[in-house]
Amino acid sequence: MFLGIDVGTSGIKALLVDENQHEVASHTESLTVSRPHAGWSEQDPEDWWKAACRAIDKLHGQHPEAVAAIRGIGLSGQQHGAVLVDASGEVLRPCILWNDTRAEAECALFEERFPLSREVTGNIAMPGFTAPKLLWVARHEPEIFARIRHVLLPKAWLRYRMTGEMIEDMSDASGTLWLDVGKRAWSVEALKATGLTLANMPTLCEGTEPAGVLKEDLTHRWGMTSAPVFAGSAGDNAAGAVGLGAIRNEDAFVSLGTSGVVWVTTNEFRPEHQSAIHAFCHAVPKTWHQMGVTLSAAASLAWWAKVCGVTERDLLAELPERPARPSSVLFAPYLSGERTPHNDGTIRGGFVGLSHDTSRAELTQAVLEGVAFSFRDALEGLTASGSIITEADVIGGGSRSPFWIAILASVLGLRLHSLAHGEHGGAFGAARLARIAATGESVESVCTPPERVSATDPVPELQNAYDQAYSRYRRLYPALRGIQDA
Ligand code: XUL
Repeated sequence: MFLGIDVGTSGIKALLVDENQHEVASHTESLTVSRPHAGWSEQDPEDWWKAACRAIDKLHGQHPEAVAAIRGIGLSGQQHGAVLVDASGEVLRPCILWNDTRAEAECALFEERFPLSREVTGNIAMPGFTAPKLLWVARHEPEIFARIRHVLLPKAWLRYRMTGEMIEDMSDASGTLWLDVGKRAWSVEALKATGLTLANMPTLCEGTEPAGVLKEDLTHRWGMTSAPVFAGSAGDNAAGAVGLGAIRNEDAFVSLGTSGVVWVTTNEFRPEHQSAIHAFCHAVPKTWHQMGVTLSAAASLAWWAKVCGVTERDLLAELPERPARPSSVLFAPYLSGERTPHNDGTIRGGFVGLSHDTSRAELTQAVLEGVAFSFRDALEGLTASGSIITEADVIGGGSRSPFWIAILASVLGLRLHSLAHGEHGGAFGAARLARIAATGESVESVCTPPERVSATDPVPELQNAYDQAYSRYRRLYPALRGIQDA
Protein backbone atom coordinates (compact mmCIF):
# COMPACT_ATOMS: atom_id res chain seq x y z
CA MET A 1 0.00 0.00 0.00
CA PHE A 2 1.28 3.52 -0.86
CA LEU A 3 0.21 6.96 0.28
CA GLY A 4 0.28 10.10 -1.86
CA ILE A 5 -0.12 13.43 -0.06
CA ASP A 6 -0.83 16.49 -2.16
CA VAL A 7 0.08 19.74 -0.40
CA GLY A 8 -2.21 21.90 -2.53
CA THR A 9 -3.30 25.49 -2.13
CA SER A 10 -7.00 24.83 -1.67
CA GLY A 11 -6.53 21.63 0.35
CA ILE A 12 -4.39 18.73 1.47
CA LYS A 13 -5.33 15.45 -0.11
CA ALA A 14 -4.26 12.03 1.18
CA LEU A 15 -4.73 9.21 -1.33
CA LEU A 16 -4.22 5.51 -0.63
CA VAL A 17 -3.14 3.39 -3.59
CA ASP A 18 -2.81 -0.40 -3.53
CA GLU A 19 -0.19 -2.71 -5.08
CA ASN A 20 -2.22 -2.86 -8.33
CA GLN A 21 -2.20 0.94 -8.58
CA HIS A 22 -5.89 1.08 -7.72
CA GLU A 23 -7.12 3.92 -5.59
CA VAL A 24 -8.41 2.59 -2.27
CA ALA A 25 -9.59 5.79 -0.60
CA SER A 26 -8.86 9.48 -0.41
CA HIS A 27 -9.63 12.31 1.93
CA THR A 28 -9.20 16.05 1.42
CA GLU A 29 -8.98 18.72 4.11
CA SER A 30 -9.64 22.27 2.87
CA LEU A 31 -7.21 25.14 3.32
CA THR A 32 -7.64 28.88 3.03
CA VAL A 33 -5.25 31.50 1.69
CA SER A 34 -4.64 34.72 3.56
CA ARG A 35 -4.22 37.91 1.51
CA PRO A 36 -3.25 40.57 4.07
CA HIS A 37 -2.21 43.11 1.39
CA ALA A 38 -2.83 43.52 -2.35
CA GLY A 39 -0.76 40.95 -4.25
CA TRP A 40 0.12 38.98 -1.11
CA SER A 41 -0.77 35.31 -0.70
CA GLU A 42 0.23 33.37 2.41
CA GLN A 43 -0.49 30.19 4.34
CA ASP A 44 0.64 29.03 7.78
CA PRO A 45 2.69 25.82 7.37
CA GLU A 46 1.19 24.62 10.64
CA ASP A 47 -2.18 24.45 8.84
CA TRP A 48 -0.69 22.04 6.25
CA TRP A 49 0.63 19.88 9.07
CA LYS A 50 -2.70 19.78 10.92
CA ALA A 51 -4.66 19.18 7.71
CA ALA A 52 -2.31 16.36 6.63
CA CYS A 53 -2.67 14.69 10.03
CA ARG A 54 -6.46 15.04 9.94
CA ALA A 55 -6.60 13.58 6.43
CA ILE A 56 -4.46 10.56 7.36
CA ASP A 57 -6.34 10.12 10.67
CA LYS A 58 -9.53 9.99 8.64
CA LEU A 59 -8.14 7.34 6.27
CA HIS A 60 -6.81 5.43 9.26
CA GLY A 61 -10.24 5.54 10.92
CA GLN A 62 -11.96 4.20 7.79
CA HIS A 63 -9.29 1.81 6.47
CA PRO A 64 -7.07 0.86 9.42
CA GLU A 65 -5.64 -2.25 7.78
CA ALA A 66 -4.79 -0.51 4.54
CA VAL A 67 -3.11 2.38 6.38
CA ALA A 68 -1.16 -0.08 8.56
CA ALA A 69 0.18 -1.66 5.36
CA ILE A 70 1.60 1.58 3.88
CA ARG A 71 5.16 0.94 2.71
CA GLY A 72 5.92 4.25 1.03
CA ILE A 73 4.78 7.87 1.20
CA GLY A 74 5.12 10.41 -1.60
CA LEU A 75 4.47 14.14 -1.52
CA SER A 76 3.20 16.41 -4.25
CA GLY A 77 3.80 20.03 -3.35
CA GLN A 78 2.50 23.41 -4.38
CA GLN A 79 5.70 24.91 -5.75
CA HIS A 80 7.89 27.93 -5.01
CA GLY A 81 6.58 28.83 -1.50
CA ALA A 82 9.21 30.05 0.99
CA VAL A 83 9.04 28.40 4.41
CA LEU A 84 11.64 30.14 6.59
CA VAL A 85 12.95 28.07 9.47
CA ASP A 86 15.23 29.17 12.35
CA ALA A 87 18.05 27.26 14.04
CA SER A 88 15.63 25.44 16.35
CA GLY A 89 13.44 24.29 13.45
CA GLU A 90 10.64 26.84 14.11
CA VAL A 91 8.85 28.59 11.26
CA LEU A 92 9.66 32.33 11.28
CA ARG A 93 6.69 33.78 9.34
CA PRO A 94 3.77 32.59 7.19
CA CYS A 95 4.82 30.92 3.93
CA ILE A 96 4.86 33.34 0.97
CA LEU A 97 3.09 31.32 -1.73
CA TRP A 98 3.64 30.67 -5.44
CA ASN A 99 0.95 33.18 -6.47
CA ASP A 100 2.22 36.01 -4.26
CA THR A 101 3.48 38.89 -6.40
CA ARG A 102 5.01 41.25 -3.82
CA ALA A 103 8.60 40.53 -4.94
CA GLU A 104 8.33 42.19 -8.38
CA ALA A 105 11.17 44.68 -7.77
CA GLU A 106 13.40 41.99 -6.28
CA CYS A 107 13.34 40.01 -9.55
CA ALA A 108 15.34 42.73 -11.30
CA LEU A 109 17.68 42.92 -8.32
CA PHE A 110 18.27 39.16 -8.41
CA GLU A 111 19.10 39.17 -12.14
CA GLU A 112 21.36 42.19 -11.66
CA ARG A 113 23.30 40.39 -8.93
CA PHE A 114 23.38 37.12 -10.86
CA PRO A 115 23.62 38.00 -14.57
CA LEU A 116 23.87 34.34 -15.62
CA SER A 117 20.58 33.56 -13.87
CA ARG A 118 18.52 32.82 -17.00
CA GLU A 119 21.15 30.50 -18.47
CA VAL A 120 21.80 28.61 -15.24
CA THR A 121 18.28 28.41 -13.79
CA GLY A 122 16.52 28.18 -17.17
CA ASN A 123 13.96 30.74 -16.11
CA ILE A 124 13.21 34.43 -16.02
CA ALA A 125 13.13 35.65 -12.41
CA MET A 126 9.45 35.96 -11.50
CA PRO A 127 7.95 37.15 -8.23
CA GLY A 128 6.33 33.76 -7.62
CA PHE A 129 9.72 32.00 -7.50
CA THR A 130 11.48 31.56 -4.17
CA ALA A 131 14.70 33.57 -4.53
CA PRO A 132 13.06 37.00 -5.11
CA LYS A 133 10.85 36.35 -2.07
CA LEU A 134 13.96 35.96 0.08
CA LEU A 135 15.33 39.25 -1.24
CA TRP A 136 12.00 40.83 -0.31
CA VAL A 137 12.27 39.46 3.23
CA ALA A 138 15.88 40.70 3.48
CA ARG A 139 14.73 44.19 2.48
CA HIS A 140 11.45 44.46 4.36
CA GLU A 141 11.82 42.11 7.32
CA PRO A 142 15.59 42.15 8.02
CA GLU A 143 15.13 40.91 11.59
CA ILE A 144 13.44 37.76 10.23
CA PHE A 145 16.00 37.34 7.45
CA ALA A 146 18.80 37.44 10.05
CA ARG A 147 17.26 34.47 11.88
CA ILE A 148 16.83 32.22 8.81
CA ARG A 149 18.72 28.95 9.11
CA HIS A 150 16.90 26.90 6.46
CA VAL A 151 14.63 27.69 3.51
CA LEU A 152 12.24 24.89 2.58
CA LEU A 153 9.54 24.53 -0.05
CA PRO A 154 6.09 23.54 1.26
CA LYS A 155 6.40 19.79 0.76
CA ALA A 156 10.01 19.72 2.05
CA TRP A 157 8.76 21.38 5.21
CA LEU A 158 5.99 18.77 5.59
CA ARG A 159 8.57 16.02 5.05
CA TYR A 160 10.71 17.66 7.75
CA ARG A 161 7.76 17.53 10.18
CA MET A 162 7.05 13.91 9.30
CA THR A 163 10.61 12.52 9.07
CA GLY A 164 12.89 15.08 10.74
CA GLU A 165 14.96 15.33 7.52
CA MET A 166 15.51 18.30 5.23
CA ILE A 167 15.54 16.92 1.69
CA GLU A 168 14.25 18.36 -1.60
CA ASP A 169 13.73 16.81 -5.02
CA MET A 170 14.95 18.27 -8.32
CA SER A 171 11.56 19.17 -9.82
CA ASP A 172 10.50 21.36 -6.91
CA ALA A 173 14.02 22.71 -6.37
CA SER A 174 13.89 23.97 -9.99
CA GLY A 175 11.26 26.53 -8.98
CA THR A 176 13.51 28.29 -6.48
CA LEU A 177 15.92 29.98 -8.96
CA TRP A 178 18.73 28.50 -6.83
CA LEU A 179 19.11 25.34 -8.88
CA ASP A 180 21.47 24.85 -11.80
CA VAL A 181 18.70 23.06 -13.68
CA GLY A 182 20.94 21.59 -16.40
CA LYS A 183 23.38 20.16 -13.83
CA ARG A 184 20.73 19.19 -11.22
CA ALA A 185 22.74 20.84 -8.41
CA TRP A 186 22.36 23.95 -6.21
CA SER A 187 24.02 27.01 -7.72
CA VAL A 188 26.31 28.67 -5.19
CA GLU A 189 26.24 31.91 -7.22
CA ALA A 190 22.43 32.01 -7.27
CA LEU A 191 22.34 31.48 -3.51
CA LYS A 192 24.98 34.16 -3.00
CA ALA A 193 22.86 36.67 -4.94
CA THR A 194 20.20 36.17 -2.24
CA GLY A 195 22.56 36.31 0.74
CA LEU A 196 22.35 32.53 1.28
CA THR A 197 24.73 29.57 1.11
CA LEU A 198 24.51 25.82 0.56
CA ALA A 199 24.15 25.44 4.34
CA ASN A 200 20.67 27.02 4.11
CA MET A 201 19.48 24.47 1.56
CA PRO A 202 18.05 20.98 2.04
CA THR A 203 19.92 18.00 0.57
CA LEU A 204 18.97 17.33 -3.06
CA CYS A 205 17.71 14.03 -4.44
CA GLU A 206 15.72 12.67 -7.39
CA GLY A 207 11.96 12.32 -6.89
CA THR A 208 12.22 8.55 -7.20
CA GLU A 209 14.90 8.10 -4.50
CA PRO A 210 14.22 7.19 -0.85
CA ALA A 211 14.29 10.39 1.24
CA GLY A 212 13.55 9.87 4.93
CA VAL A 213 11.29 7.56 6.95
CA LEU A 214 8.17 8.37 8.95
CA LYS A 215 8.88 9.33 12.59
CA GLU A 216 8.24 6.70 15.22
CA ASP A 217 5.36 8.48 16.98
CA LEU A 218 3.50 8.92 13.68
CA THR A 219 4.18 5.33 12.64
CA HIS A 220 2.60 4.32 15.93
CA ARG A 221 -0.30 6.81 15.61
CA TRP A 222 -1.37 5.30 12.29
CA GLY A 223 -0.81 1.70 13.41
CA MET A 224 1.83 0.94 10.81
CA THR A 225 3.85 -2.23 11.20
CA SER A 226 7.09 -0.56 10.15
CA ALA A 227 8.03 3.02 9.31
CA PRO A 228 7.18 3.80 5.64
CA VAL A 229 9.91 5.30 3.48
CA PHE A 230 9.37 8.69 1.85
CA ALA A 231 10.15 9.27 -1.81
CA GLY A 232 12.11 12.35 -2.84
CA SER A 233 8.69 13.21 -4.36
CA ALA A 234 7.81 16.10 -6.68
CA GLY A 235 6.43 19.55 -7.24
CA ASP A 236 2.72 19.22 -7.94
CA ASN A 237 2.97 19.52 -11.70
CA ALA A 238 5.79 16.97 -11.96
CA ALA A 239 3.79 14.69 -9.66
CA GLY A 240 0.82 15.09 -11.99
CA ALA A 241 3.08 14.13 -14.90
CA VAL A 242 4.26 10.99 -13.08
CA GLY A 243 0.62 10.08 -12.44
CA LEU A 244 -0.07 10.36 -16.16
CA GLY A 245 3.03 8.46 -17.23
CA ALA A 246 4.21 11.68 -18.95
CA ILE A 247 7.87 10.69 -18.71
CA ARG A 248 8.86 10.61 -22.38
CA ASN A 249 9.91 13.43 -24.70
CA GLU A 250 6.87 15.50 -25.82
CA ASP A 251 4.33 13.81 -23.52
CA ALA A 252 1.90 16.65 -22.75
CA PHE A 253 -0.93 17.47 -20.39
CA VAL A 254 -2.93 20.41 -19.12
CA SER A 255 -3.67 20.90 -15.45
CA LEU A 256 -6.79 22.81 -14.45
CA GLY A 257 -5.95 23.32 -10.79
CA THR A 258 -5.93 26.52 -8.72
CA SER A 259 -3.21 27.50 -11.21
CA GLY A 260 -3.27 26.34 -14.83
CA VAL A 261 -0.41 24.57 -16.53
CA VAL A 262 0.39 23.36 -20.03
CA TRP A 263 3.20 20.82 -19.59
CA VAL A 264 5.53 19.08 -22.00
CA THR A 265 8.21 16.55 -20.98
CA THR A 266 11.66 17.07 -22.55
CA ASN A 267 14.65 14.72 -22.80
CA GLU A 268 17.03 17.63 -22.25
CA PHE A 269 17.21 20.94 -20.40
CA ARG A 270 15.43 23.27 -22.84
CA PRO A 271 15.16 26.87 -21.59
CA GLU A 272 12.79 29.22 -23.50
CA HIS A 273 12.71 32.72 -22.04
CA GLN A 274 10.94 34.56 -24.86
CA SER A 275 7.40 33.76 -23.75
CA ALA A 276 8.12 33.26 -20.05
CA ILE A 277 7.99 29.46 -20.29
CA HIS A 278 9.49 27.60 -17.32
CA ALA A 279 12.23 24.99 -17.89
CA PHE A 280 12.53 22.66 -14.88
CA CYS A 281 13.84 19.21 -13.94
CA HIS A 282 11.31 16.41 -14.00
CA ALA A 283 10.85 14.26 -10.88
CA VAL A 284 12.40 11.27 -12.65
CA PRO A 285 16.15 11.12 -13.37
CA LYS A 286 17.76 12.54 -16.54
CA THR A 287 14.47 14.11 -17.66
CA TRP A 288 13.30 17.74 -17.76
CA HIS A 289 10.16 19.59 -18.77
CA GLN A 290 8.83 22.89 -19.97
CA MET A 291 5.60 24.45 -18.79
CA GLY A 292 3.55 27.56 -19.28
CA VAL A 293 1.76 28.70 -16.12
CA THR A 294 -1.35 30.81 -15.74
CA LEU A 295 -1.75 31.88 -12.14
CA SER A 296 -5.55 31.89 -11.75
CA ALA A 297 -7.23 28.93 -13.48
CA ALA A 298 -9.73 27.18 -11.17
CA ALA A 299 -8.90 30.11 -8.86
CA SER A 300 -10.75 32.39 -11.31
CA LEU A 301 -13.90 30.27 -11.11
CA ALA A 302 -13.57 30.11 -7.31
CA TRP A 303 -13.30 33.91 -7.21
CA TRP A 304 -16.37 34.33 -9.45
CA ALA A 305 -18.37 31.88 -7.30
CA LYS A 306 -17.41 33.85 -4.19
CA VAL A 307 -18.55 37.10 -5.82
CA CYS A 308 -21.87 35.46 -6.77
CA GLY A 309 -22.30 33.95 -3.30
CA VAL A 310 -22.79 30.43 -4.69
CA THR A 311 -20.60 27.37 -5.25
CA GLU A 312 -18.62 26.67 -8.40
CA ARG A 313 -20.86 23.67 -8.95
CA ASP A 314 -23.95 25.96 -8.89
CA LEU A 315 -22.39 28.19 -11.54
CA LEU A 316 -21.48 25.27 -13.79
CA ALA A 317 -25.01 23.86 -13.42
CA GLU A 318 -26.39 27.01 -15.12
CA LEU A 319 -24.46 26.23 -18.32
CA PRO A 320 -25.61 24.00 -21.18
CA GLU A 321 -23.88 20.68 -21.80
CA ARG A 322 -21.54 22.04 -24.50
CA PRO A 323 -20.66 25.62 -25.56
CA ALA A 324 -22.61 26.67 -28.70
CA ARG A 325 -20.59 29.84 -29.36
CA PRO A 326 -18.09 32.00 -27.48
CA SER A 327 -19.50 34.28 -24.82
CA SER A 328 -19.91 37.88 -26.00
CA VAL A 329 -17.95 38.91 -22.91
CA LEU A 330 -14.17 38.62 -22.59
CA PHE A 331 -12.50 37.89 -19.27
CA ALA A 332 -8.82 38.43 -18.45
CA PRO A 333 -7.91 36.05 -15.60
CA TYR A 334 -5.09 38.18 -14.17
CA LEU A 335 -6.45 38.17 -10.61
CA SER A 336 -2.97 37.91 -9.13
CA GLY A 337 -0.87 38.95 -12.12
CA GLU A 338 0.31 36.57 -14.81
CA ARG A 339 3.40 34.48 -15.51
CA THR A 340 3.23 33.02 -19.05
CA PRO A 341 3.52 34.91 -21.38
CA HIS A 342 3.52 38.34 -19.73
CA ASN A 343 5.59 37.84 -16.57
CA ASP A 344 3.70 40.70 -14.95
CA GLY A 345 2.96 40.49 -11.25
CA THR A 346 1.02 43.75 -11.10
CA ILE A 347 -1.44 43.32 -13.98
CA ARG A 348 -5.04 42.77 -12.86
CA GLY A 349 -8.00 41.16 -14.63
CA GLY A 350 -11.14 42.46 -16.25
CA PHE A 351 -14.50 41.75 -17.87
CA VAL A 352 -15.09 43.48 -21.22
CA GLY A 353 -18.26 43.69 -23.33
CA LEU A 354 -21.03 43.79 -20.71
CA SER A 355 -24.58 44.67 -21.81
CA HIS A 356 -28.12 44.66 -20.37
CA ASP A 357 -28.48 41.17 -21.79
CA THR A 358 -25.42 39.74 -20.08
CA SER A 359 -26.45 36.95 -17.75
CA ARG A 360 -24.56 35.33 -14.92
CA ALA A 361 -24.20 32.18 -17.04
CA GLU A 362 -22.60 34.18 -19.83
CA LEU A 363 -20.12 35.69 -17.39
CA THR A 364 -19.31 32.23 -16.02
CA GLN A 365 -18.67 31.06 -19.57
CA ALA A 366 -16.47 34.12 -20.13
CA VAL A 367 -14.44 33.20 -17.02
CA LEU A 368 -13.91 29.64 -18.27
CA GLU A 369 -12.96 30.96 -21.72
CA GLY A 370 -10.58 33.60 -20.34
CA VAL A 371 -8.72 30.83 -18.52
CA ALA A 372 -8.71 28.72 -21.69
CA PHE A 373 -7.24 31.66 -23.67
CA SER A 374 -4.48 32.01 -21.10
CA PHE A 375 -3.73 28.28 -21.66
CA ARG A 376 -3.56 29.05 -25.38
CA ASP A 377 -0.94 31.71 -24.63
CA ALA A 378 1.08 29.00 -22.85
CA LEU A 379 0.60 26.55 -25.72
CA GLU A 380 1.76 29.15 -28.27
CA GLY A 381 4.92 29.71 -26.20
CA LEU A 382 5.67 25.98 -26.01
CA THR A 383 5.05 25.54 -29.72
CA ALA A 384 7.31 28.50 -30.53
CA SER A 385 10.09 26.79 -28.60
CA GLY A 386 9.86 23.79 -30.91
CA SER A 387 7.69 21.43 -28.85
CA ILE A 388 5.09 19.58 -30.88
CA ILE A 389 1.82 18.97 -29.02
CA THR A 390 -1.10 17.27 -30.73
CA GLU A 391 -3.07 15.83 -27.81
CA ALA A 392 -3.03 16.12 -24.04
CA ASP A 393 -4.53 14.61 -20.88
CA VAL A 394 -6.47 16.89 -18.54
CA ILE A 395 -6.03 16.77 -14.77
CA GLY A 396 -6.91 18.98 -11.80
CA GLY A 397 -10.19 19.91 -10.10
CA GLY A 398 -11.47 21.75 -13.22
CA SER A 399 -11.23 18.52 -15.23
CA ARG A 400 -14.54 17.48 -13.64
CA SER A 401 -16.34 19.96 -15.95
CA PRO A 402 -16.99 18.58 -19.48
CA PHE A 403 -18.10 22.09 -20.53
CA TRP A 404 -14.71 23.54 -19.60
CA ILE A 405 -12.86 20.71 -21.34
CA ALA A 406 -14.94 21.30 -24.50
CA ILE A 407 -13.96 24.98 -24.45
CA LEU A 408 -10.31 24.08 -23.93
CA ALA A 409 -10.27 21.54 -26.77
CA SER A 410 -11.59 24.09 -29.28
CA VAL A 411 -9.49 26.98 -27.96
CA LEU A 412 -6.28 24.91 -27.98
CA GLY A 413 -7.10 22.93 -31.12
CA LEU A 414 -6.09 19.73 -29.32
CA ARG A 415 -7.72 16.38 -28.62
CA LEU A 416 -8.08 16.28 -24.83
CA HIS A 417 -8.33 13.07 -22.83
CA SER A 418 -10.34 12.80 -19.63
CA LEU A 419 -9.20 10.30 -17.05
CA ALA A 420 -11.04 8.07 -14.65
CA HIS A 421 -9.68 10.00 -11.66
CA GLY A 422 -8.12 13.10 -13.24
CA GLU A 423 -8.75 15.21 -10.16
CA HIS A 424 -6.33 13.07 -8.13
CA GLY A 425 -3.42 14.20 -10.38
CA GLY A 426 -0.59 15.09 -8.03
CA ALA A 427 -1.52 12.77 -5.16
CA PHE A 428 -1.60 9.74 -7.49
CA GLY A 429 1.79 10.63 -8.97
CA ALA A 430 3.18 11.05 -5.46
CA ALA A 431 1.94 7.55 -4.54
CA ARG A 432 3.73 6.20 -7.63
CA LEU A 433 6.98 7.87 -6.57
CA ALA A 434 6.48 6.33 -3.12
CA ARG A 435 6.21 2.93 -4.75
CA ILE A 436 9.38 3.38 -6.80
CA ALA A 437 11.30 4.59 -3.72
CA ALA A 438 10.01 1.70 -1.57
CA THR A 439 10.34 -1.16 -4.07
CA GLY A 440 13.12 -0.08 -6.42
CA GLU A 441 10.90 -0.88 -9.43
CA SER A 442 11.71 0.93 -12.67
CA VAL A 443 10.13 4.26 -13.57
CA GLU A 444 8.87 2.80 -16.87
CA SER A 445 7.11 -0.15 -15.24
CA VAL A 446 5.29 2.00 -12.67
CA CYS A 447 4.57 5.18 -14.68
CA THR A 448 2.19 3.74 -17.26
CA PRO A 449 -0.63 5.86 -18.75
CA PRO A 450 -3.77 5.79 -16.58
CA GLU A 451 -7.23 4.82 -17.78
CA ARG A 452 -8.60 7.38 -20.26
CA VAL A 453 -12.38 7.49 -20.14
CA SER A 454 -13.20 9.86 -22.99
CA ALA A 455 -11.68 12.14 -25.59
CA THR A 456 -12.92 15.62 -26.49
CA ASP A 457 -12.03 16.92 -29.94
CA PRO A 458 -12.08 20.51 -31.18
CA VAL A 459 -15.31 21.38 -33.03
CA PRO A 460 -14.31 23.11 -36.31
CA GLU A 461 -16.92 25.95 -36.26
CA LEU A 462 -16.27 26.57 -32.60
CA GLN A 463 -12.53 26.48 -33.17
CA ASN A 464 -12.84 29.23 -35.82
CA ALA A 465 -15.01 31.34 -33.55
CA TYR A 466 -12.56 30.84 -30.69
CA ASP A 467 -9.59 31.74 -32.92
CA GLN A 468 -11.24 35.09 -33.51
CA ALA A 469 -12.14 35.54 -29.86
CA TYR A 470 -8.55 34.66 -28.93
CA SER A 471 -7.17 37.40 -31.17
CA ARG A 472 -9.47 39.87 -29.36
CA TYR A 473 -8.31 38.43 -26.02
CA ARG A 474 -4.68 39.08 -27.05
CA ARG A 475 -5.51 42.78 -27.18
CA LEU A 476 -6.80 42.78 -23.63
CA TYR A 477 -3.44 42.61 -21.88
CA PRO A 478 -1.92 45.72 -23.51
CA ALA A 479 -5.21 47.58 -23.04
CA LEU A 480 -5.43 46.68 -19.35
CA ARG A 481 -1.75 47.50 -18.88
CA GLY A 482 -2.35 50.89 -20.49
CA ILE A 483 -5.33 51.62 -18.23
CA GLN A 484 -3.39 50.61 -15.13
CA ASP A 485 -0.41 52.71 -16.14
CA ALA A 486 -2.49 55.82 -16.91
C1 XUL B 1 3.97 26.19 -10.96
C2 XUL B 1 3.11 26.90 -9.97
C3 XUL B 1 1.81 26.33 -9.62
C4 XUL B 1 1.85 25.76 -8.25
C5 XUL B 1 0.44 25.38 -7.83
O1 XUL B 1 5.07 26.92 -11.35
O2 XUL B 1 3.46 27.92 -9.43
O3 XUL B 1 1.38 25.40 -10.55
O4 XUL B 1 2.73 24.69 -8.20
O5 XUL B 1 0.42 24.60 -6.74
